[in-house]
Amino acid sequence: MRSIMIKILHLASLGLLLLLSGCERPPMDSIQHGYRGTGMVEIYNPRIVEAKAENNAVPFALPPAPTDGPRASQVYKNVQVLGGLSSAQFTRLMVSMASWVAPNEGCVYCHNPANFAEDSKYTKVVARRMIQMTQNLNVNWTSHVANTGVTCYTCHRGNNIPQQVWFKRDVTPAGANFIGDKAGQNEPALSVGLSSLPNDPFTPFLLGAQDIRVGGVTALPNGNKHSIKQAEWTYGLMTHMATSLGVNCTYCHNTRTFSSWEGNPPQRATAWYGIRMVRDLNLTYMEPLQSTFPAHRLGETGDVAKVYCATCHQGVYKPLNGAQMAKDYPELKAITAGNLDAKVAKR
Ligand code: HEC
Ligand code: HEC
Ligand code: HEC
Ligand code: HEC
Repeated sequence: MRSIMIKILHLASLGLLLLLSGCERPPMDSIQHGYRGTGMVEIYNPRIVEAKAENNAVPFALPPAPTDGPRASQVYKNVQVLGGLSSAQFTRLMVSMASWVAPNEGCVYCHNPANFAEDSKYTKVVARRMIQMTQNLNVNWTSHVANTGVTCYTCHRGNNIPQQVWFKRDVTPAGANFIGDKAGQNEPALSVGLSSLPNDPFTPFLLGAQDIRVGGVTALPNGNKHSIKQAEWTYGLMTHMATSLGVNCTYCHNTRTFSSWEGNPPQRATAWYGIRMVRDLNLTYMEPLQSTFPAHRLGETGDVAKVYCATCHQGVYKPLNGAQMAKDYPELKAITAGNLDAKVAKR
């Protein structure tokens, strides 16, 4: 009898071990992030933080280029955005761009080596818009990127295509199966932390401007027209935001009530601007480029790759761990004389 009991105990503890192997091993670090007693604590796994450090190291910057001498617009034939730079600044930026976006291919990733002025490669046409987009981010979206700013490297990290982009999901149309429209639900997806929440919470919120706020503002439900289904889309987006930044919900919310802004850390406001900024990037830059991209770069519904929080953040709450990389590239931190487009977009 006793030996059977011991065997059962052994089996049970083996089962427990197996269950726990999915969890992160202690010790963990924690940092208080809100007022005392609110339970607003950030929990970190120091080993994961260490592993992320490498991906967030900043590449070295070329020495600054002289700003005097003839303008790029005088030296070259087809410069539509960077014409106001000195030709030394222009060349320094070209070399840096090649190392950030196409380190293996170099200049020919965007240029026909026989004629640098030609716009025959789609990559060059896209890159021109990307320069305008980066300037727009650094000048018009300081409410989010602050003085830290971004460069091509913030998203690309030495890759032709940033590692973290999203496409629209091919949602099963209503009536196509007996459950009807599943809204991409109950198909555990990485985009929502392997939960069964709607797995494309991006189209409604980061392309469209559907209401993210779902909590009622009156005691009785008749004041609140939002459904539980809508709340699930909000939770999908929030899961993406938290995992992209490597934080818990309490990094932005006092979880006593998610809808209230009272006692919330300033990071929630930064995130609010971030949502609007990402919409601007997708609507003003990415979507209009759809027809410029070749078919093999498009998603399953034929749409262009789009930006979300993870595109820049990649698991840390300040991209590149807050390194102020953009300060070494004044060409990208201001709207250059030729970039008329971004001047119009300025708000
Ligand atoms: C990621 C794409 C990309 C890469 C890589 C790249 N360029 Fe460019 N290049 C551009 C774009 C975009 C323009 C046009 C800028 C504008 O319109 O203001 C341009 C313009 C030029 C021009 C001006 C040509 C003319 O007469 O109009 C020269 C010269 C040039 N690049 C040199 C280089 C060199 C040298 C390299 C490699 C060290 C390089 N580029 C790498 C995108 C790229
Ligand atoms: C906010 C993030 C972000 C920033 C900043 C950014 N890019 Fe991009 N870039 C993207 C996304 C998203 C795509 C679409 C991916 C694809 O090609 O399908 C893209 C695509 C490109 C492509 C096309 C690559 C290909 O093979 O299809 C080029 C070239 C490019 N970017 C150059 C640049 C340059 C140069 C800069 C800096 C001046 C820059 N990007 C800054 C997000 C960014
Ligand atoms: C990086 C900051 C940030 C993180 C992390 C975050 N949220 Fe949010 N949350 C926001 C912002 C900003 C809004 C308001 C969005 C708007 O109005 O556009 C919001 C709104 C919400 C709402 C809607 C509230 C209402 O008024 O109805 C819910 C619910 C919510 N969050 C839940 C969560 C959950 C659950 C988590 C963790 C999985 C989480 N949030 C993580 C920033 C964050
Ligand atoms: C174009 C790149 C980019 C994208 C896309 C982006 N961010 Fe950021 N974010 C930054 C930069 C750069 C900073 C650092 C600003 C600073 O130094 O204060 C930052 C800072 C933040 C902070 C403040 C962190 C802190 O502790 O002070 C929050 C919160 C945040 N981002 C949330 C988001 C959310 C949520 C999204 C998606 C809706 C998003 N970001 C998308 C570039 C980006």
